[in-house]
This record gives sequence, structure tokens and C-alpha cells, in this order.
Amino acid sequence: MSHRLAATSNDARAKLCPAELDPVRVPAHVAVIMDGNGRWAQARGLPRVMGHRAGVEALKATLRLCSDWGVKALTAYAFSTENWSRPGDEVNFLMTLFERVLQRELQALEAEQVRIRFLGDLDALPEKLQALIADATARTANNTGIHFNVCTNYGGRRELVLAAQALATRAARGELEPSSIDENTLAAELFTAGEQDPDLLIRTSGERRISNFLLWQLAYAEIHVTDVFWPDFNREALLEALLDYQGRRRRFGGLDDLRAGALGS
Ligand code: FPP
Repeated sequence: MSHRLAATSNDARAKLCPAELDPVRVPAHVAVIMDGNGRWAQARGLPRVMGHRAGVEALKATLRLCSDWGVKALTAYAFSTENWSRPGDEVNFLMTLFERVLQRELQALEAEQVRIRFLGDLDALPEKLQALIADATARTANNTGIHFNVCTNYGGRRELVLAAQALATRAARGELEPSSIDENTLAAELFTAGEQDPDLLIRTSGERRISNFLLWQLAYAEIHVTDVFWPDFNREALLEALLDYQGRRRRFGGLDDLRAGALGS
């Protein structure tokens, strides 16, 4: 990554946004399920893990484009609580890949003002990876650029169970009145605390599932599914996703202006 974004003003940023996009209606938070790495590799006669390696490049490019185009937060599903059931070799490759990427990219992330956080049950990760995550999180905590959230050993149900346990513990200690628990209280216990909910979920490789990703936070997200495998996800595919998003009418359970007007008259 270059250093050019660190001092980019809002005006300059809007200029980086492709002409087809409305810079004012760029989604503030984009979440992505990076699916199809294994199939991308197999289709080329390569070992599955080569797909993960190529997937890192696609993720770096996506992060840079999102930052250029004014997206404020990018949350990527890198390793789910279910992914431990994959062959040991693939799990080990992924853990080592996460470590290498962090070691290799941290300086660039710092220079780009990216704030990186890892969301999930991190205690179960290899100790070396935990240490690198702690270091990267601390070193980028005060950065003012895009928020880059990497969901690692993440499961939406697990996240909700942990939040319930935390609230129950506080209630049992008499620190919290059960009837005072509302959506904000619960959201504050999630790994994503402090981050606004995603506006857009992108899933690659044509699958149409949520796969235990951000179950609470995706309540009103627009969903864009593309057939491309994650390693092939590029500028054109991201632009298509954002244009699809900008073509949607978001109603959050209410009525859009047209229908509300018709009922009101
Ligand atoms: C899903 O494809 C992808 C993963 C389980 C791993 C994604 C991880 C990365 C791209 C690395 C990111 C690294 C950092 C440090 C942020 P799949 O293997 O399920 O593909 P398939 O459906 O074709 O089998």
C-alpha cells in the first residue's frame, strides 16, 4: 500500500470514487464473506491453500478500494468457528498465513491509517498469532482511516451466547436490571461493539447463505451475491456490488417515501 491515503481529505476522496458511484451514498460499512478460494485453486489444478494465498491479494485490493471510495469500515470473514473441522493441514496453513500477512502488512496498514481489529474468540488461536494480533490492534488503535475488521474464529451464534453470558453475569451481580437490557446494551457486548451495523453484505462464489456471520448486525443489510470466486473479486466486482447497493431502496421495516405518501393522502 502507498502512503497517499493518510492525508486524503473528503473532497480528494470523492475524486477517487468512480464516476458511476454517488460518493454521498457509498455504504459506510461493507461486510464480506470471502467464499470460493478452494474452488478457485482446484479449477487451476492447484492445491486448495493456494486459493487462500490468492484470497489475501483480493482482500488487500478490496481494502484499498474501499478506503479510496469512502467506505468507513470493511469487515471480512476470514475463519469461522466451524472452519476448525477442515483438514489439519489447511487449518495450519491458514493460521500461518494470518501470521505472515500480519507481519508483512502491518507497516503499510499503519502508514495507510487503517485501524485493524480481529473479531472472534481469539483465545483459541495459536499464541504467536494472538501476540501479533494484540500488537497490530494496539499499533493501529488510534488510526483515523478505514476500520478493517477481520473475523477470525468468529461465529455469530457464539458471539450472541458470549454476550448473553456477560449480561447474565452482570445481572446476577446486581449491576444490571434485566428489564433495562435493550438492543444497545446487547450490541455493546458484541465483538463489533462501537462499529455501526453493515449496510452491505457481499458474498462471493454464488452461495446464498449467511453462514453464521454477523447474525445480529446484518439485520437490515442489503445483500449482494456474485458468482465470482473470492480470489477473482476485483475493482469491477466491487463496483458492481456498490452500484447494486445504490440501486436499492432501504426501508428498515418502514415504508419508502412513495408508499408512505400514497397512504397518507
Ligand atoms: C473461504 O473459501 C475462505 C476462507 C475460509 C479463508 C479466507 C481467508 C483469507 C482470504 C485470508 C485473509 C487473511 C488475513 C490476515 C486477513 P473456501 O476455502 O471455503 O472456498 P471453497 O468454498 O471453494 O472451498
